[in-house]
Amino acid sequence: MRLSFSLLALASTVLGASQFHGLNYNPKRQDGSCPNVYQVQADLKVLRPYTNKLRIYSVKDCNQGEPVLRAMQNTDWKVELGLWVDSNDASYEADKQELIRLAGVFNFTQQVNAVVVGSEAIYRGEQTAEQLASKVGEIKAVLAQLGLQGIPVTSSETWPTYYQPLIDAVDFVNMHGFPFWEGVAIDGAVDRMFEHIHTLQRAANGKKVVVGETGWPSAGDNYGAAVTGVATAQRYLQQFVCRAIAEDIDYYYFNSFDQSWASTNNASNVEGHWGIVLDDYVTPKFSEPIYTCGGSASASASADESAYTSADGPSSAAAGGGTGASGSGSKCRGTIQRRRRRRRFV
Ligand SMILES: *[C@@H]1O[C@H](CO)[C@@H](O)[C@H](O)[C@H]1NC(C)=O
Ligand SMILES: *[C@@H]1O[C@H](CO)[C@@H](O)[C@H](O)[C@H]1NC(C)=O
Repeated sequence: MRLSFSLLALASTVLGASQFHGLNYNPKRQDGSCPNVYQVQADLKVLRPYTNKLRIYSVKDCNQGEPVLRAMQNTDWKVELGLWVDSNDASYEADKQELIRLAGVFNFTQQVNAVVVGSEAIYRGEQTAEQLASKVGEIKAVLAQLGLQGIPVTSSETWPTYYQPLIDAVDFVNMHGFPFWEGVAIDGAVDRMFEHIHTLQRAANGKKVVVGETGWPSAGDNYGAAVTGVATAQRYLQQFVCRAIAEDIDYYYFNSFDQSWASTNNASNVEGHWGIVLDDYVTPKFSEPIYTCGGSASASASADESAYTSADGPSSAAAGGGTGASGSGSKCRGTIQRRRRRRRFV
């Protein structure tokens, strides 16, 4: 135990904090129970070799904002705090009130990278872009009133549902994209993902576009030409991360831990299998190095353009207008993206 912990510490020191820009995180336990601060601390220790940035989906669900912020206090961890938004504004109001309470307890300036108002609420048909944009505006005003106007406010939405009123309201665009749910074969999956990123970059008119979620499931049913599996999931991860580094795209990879509780969704049996760590909270899913960019070790996080180019093809293909598969206009509106139904608080 002692040995493995010092190895972990060493790895953490050598690799730095940048194997992933950030990770999505739901601290809920595998049986669906709520986490305590010690469990979150243990999770952070396991995740620290990978990143020092997490995003959570709600502060009020399980009252998880408190143990997460507590466990990160006086560390270099940073968090994006999510507010859950659905068709009933009571969820949003409860998260908003809890956000305000937490701002009085913790030093948000130090710990909070962004506030994320809603996750795929438009995609699920629970909000219009205008309703969500108005909530983003309200949270900006709330933060300003607390003297926290320096904290950016955004909303997480799939690329085809990131409509213009929402783009106009956010400080940066936080898009979700899953080529897996488009039934795309792994060979073209990362290209497809970056077509969506570039389309939104054009629509965003200079605002920064961050990938709030992407990933590939390691188990469960295939979806069209998209095949699940550990090797395929690692391949997606590797290609996505290397290209994100090459194009200087910030991203929160989906997901930290496999979540067995999420697989109870019968619409699809892949939901529990997006993690980079298994659902025992400790065992890494992928072989080391989890990715390499252009033949150099992943962890340097310094893959340069030429390394990327030799590994994944000419970058001009990425920088150009894409192949047209994502539509010719600068709007994503109207594009159909076939996807799974998401459970609450994924
Ligand atoms: C909160 O953190 C910021 C950034 O580290 C620091 O400048 C500020 O003094 C802190 N505020 C308090 C009240 O500790
Ligand atoms: C989900 O699958 C389980 C096991 O196959 C079954 O017992 C259950 O009725 C299903 N639930 C729904 C909502 O389809």
